[in-house]
Amino acid sequence: MENIESILNQALHEFSALEDPVELEQAKARYLGKSGSVTELLKGLGKLDPGDRREQGARINRVKEAIESALSARREAIQEAKLEKQLAMEALDVTLPGRGSGMGGLHPVTKTLERVQSIFHSIGFTSVSGPEIETDFYNFTALNIPEDHPARAMHDTFYVDADHLLRTHTSPIQIHYMMDHEPPVKIIAPGRVYRVDSDATHSPMFHQIEGLWVDEHVSFTHLKGVVSDFLQRFFEREKLKVRFRPSFFPFTEPSAEIDMGCVFCEGQGCRVCSHTGWLEVGGCGMVHPNVLKHVGFDTEKYLGFAFGMGLDRLAMLRYGVNDLRLFFTNDLRFLKQFE
Ligand code: DAH
Repeated sequence: MENIESILNQALHEFSALEDPVELEQAKARYLGKSGSVTELLKGLGKLDPGDRREQGARINRVKEAIESALSARREAIQEAKLEKQLAMEALDVTLPGRGSGMGGLHPVTKTLERVQSIFHSIGFTSVSGPEIETDFYNFTALNIPEDHPARAMHDTFYVDADHLLRTHTSPIQIHYMMDHEPPVKIIAPGRVYRVDSDATHSPMFHQIEGLWVDEHVSFTHLKGVVSDFLQRFFEREKLKVRFRPSFFPFTEPSAEIDMGCVFCEGQGCRVCSHTGWLEVGGCGMVHPNVLKHVGFDTEKYLGFAFGMGLDRLAMLRYGVNDLRLFFTNDLRFLKQFE
């Protein structure tokens, strides 16, 4: 019984050195647990003389209470220290200068589109759009590409379901627009198009711009004038050569491929133009009478021309970019150059 006070001193000393709540609870067990030293003393009370028992019992209980209150004080202190530490760690210096916010810039393809549009708008064309998910009818049949026509195979189509597909070109916008409007029609129609294709110059999603002018006296001469003038203004070269090479598209007759003098070698021949001096930039032709019939236009009265160009390709040529995929991987180091 004499050591009861020294047990208290030892406990207080031990608790004050502990930082870890688990260790503190373990220390508590050594005093107040089932076989802790204070508990053992209490158990031993029965062996004392009844006269001493009361006094000793009171002494032990005082020590027990003192240990308990020391424990809860220490628990609180540990908890508080932990909180202090956490607060210190998460402290914010509100006087530090901010990181500064960067300004976004337009994507090079968007810039190209805006440039193309401003040129066509200046000569009376209006921009229109159409759905990216199409039916077979708009994407093919109405454009004079009937079922089983070999031209459908050229288009590596993504099918959504039996009746729907991702448009493979912007030409179906021609059909939508002509079905809803009477001639004269003078539109450009930019948009995303999709094909099962992927390499340095092909992406499963890319951009085209469609042009369509239908009126009473529209001729191939107008087509050549509009397209040549557009390319010369777009590339800022008054003397840029443009040629129309005979070709085939089901929705135009006659049809032509649009070539322009290579802007990298001035027609001398280089890697970009495969040493031909010419770059292919699109297709065009006089709208096929079957297309006009599909939309209910009077083919005796109206004629039109149409063209389709790759917007990404125009952007690549204008900015000297040699890999189409750079436009679609969103690497800021690339994009920042166009800010
Ligand atoms: N739609 C064609 C394609 O994606 C491009 C095209 C060629 C559009 C001739 C036209 C055109 O409007 O007349 O390959």
